[in-house]
Amino acid sequence: MDYSPIKQALINVPENAQESTVCSIFISELLKTLGFDVMETVWQFNTGNGGNTVDYAVRKNSDGDSFIITQSNPYLLLEAKGRNINLSSNSAHYKSAVFQIKRYLLAPNCKSAQWGIITNANHIQLFRKHGKVVHPALPCLEVTPDNLDKVVSTIKHKIDCPQKALTVAIYNNKGGVGKTITTVNLAAILAMLGKRSLIVDFDPNQQDLTNSLGLKSKEDSLFAWLINKSSPAPDGLVNPCKVSPKTGTVWQFDIIASDEKLQNLPEDKLLQHINHGRLRQALEPFKFEYDYILIDSPPNWRFFSKSAVYAADVVLIPTKHNNIFSLENAATAIRRFVPQIQNERKDGGPIALPIFYNGKSITEAARLNAEQAIDKIIGTAKKDKVHPFDLTPYFYPRSTPANIDRHIFSIPSYAHIAGAAFDRIPAAYKKKGVA
Ligand SMILES: Nc1ncnc2c1ncn2[C@@H]1O[C@H](COP(=O)(O)OP(=O)(O)O)[C@@H](O)[C@H]1O
Ligand SMILES: [Mg+2]
Repeated sequence: MDYSPIKQALINVPENAQESTVCSIFISELLKTLGFDVMETVWQFNTGNGGNTVDYAVRKNSDGDSFIITQSNPYLLLEAKGRNINLSSNSAHYKSAVFQIKRYLLAPNCKSAQWGIITNANHIQLFRKHGKVVHPALPCLEVTPDNLDKVVSTIKHKIDCPQKALTVAIYNNKGGVGKTITTVNLAAILAMLGKRSLIVDFDPNQQDLTNSLGLKSKEDSLFAWLINKSSPAPDGLVNPCKVSPKTGTVWQFDIIASDEKLQNLPEDKLLQHINHGRLRQALEPFKFEYDYILIDSPPNWRFFSKSAVYAADVVLIPTKHNNIFSLENAATAIRRFVPQIQNERKDGGPIALPIFYNGKSITEAARLNAEQAIDKIIGTAKKDKVHPFDLTPYFYPRSTPANIDRHIFSIPSYAHIAGAAFDRIPAAYKKKGVA
């Protein structure tokens, strides 16, 4: 029987192979199959973060530029483990390998790296980096001689045809925490940074995103686009929001406004036509065009917010430190809703980003109060008999397994934010502090 070289390599790896054996038999063949030759592969690449090296870095050579010689601008990093290390998801070794590849991807010499792989020839997982966000591009997969060719070709397809956009759902089951404000100001700030963003008003009941920019909601363009599965985006679906702060400079992001049809149609009628996977599919072409796609969603767990989370790579969760419900709802989204969509999608996504506090400056006493509430939420989730869950990284992202750091990102309250609603222009454009 003629096997592919990579399949033969996997079969040749001994059952309890140490890392060096996994590398020499399997990884070299894996990188070759992914399209990188020896001149494009650096072993023990210096990440520039202390003395840390990643096992492999690779990049395609171009004329007169050989990666093995310049050792600059890696495209993909690979951290290898031995088969004696258990990399099945949720094992302690898996968690520390994920932590490791994230750290390497964010290290100074790896700024250009867009992909990371961890594997021990039993399991493999692909991660994607967009800006400073690292998220799974595939689940942690068990590899066998039977599925290996398919797994490797899926990875190859992802890294050969990368999407440009990071798709972010802005979600919290609680209302009034700043979802809409965050969406619009993020788009404004990204426009000021020269990034191309598309924002989607997927809260048709409120239509706050559309209204906050002084736009009228449409008759039925968003509805028609979602229902009519075969057609490309209709004319007028995407509208530019432009501001010219001075001659010669234009800040622009684009918006898909809400429409009346979606507001008026009962949800059960809508579900007769489409399910919550449709938005993700419809947005697909835009993911090659924009740097960011931001989806504003309503404060419930029904069609529109499920669609937003299903469409996203990452979920951004605004909370308020003085609103226990916003914290509890954030925990529910992280523990239950996001994993529910992960189970449906089966591609490793989406993941929740760390929560942040939005609005109201925080006093020391209020901070201590919020900390107590959060510690209780974390403690309850950890002790859950059916689904124990560690929320620490989502509430306290700067913590390490050895050390709890209670820092939480926060956006203080800005009078300009509330005022901007009357001017119909994102506050970030008008006030440096807000930006
Ligand atoms: N950082 C902030 N500073 C001042 N006002 C804010 C801030 N974030 C939100 N707000 C105000 O809080 C209210 C609710 O925000 P909004 O974005 O509509 O919440 P959501 O979309 O979660 O319901 C709005 O009136 C908004 O102007
Ligand atoms: Mg809103």
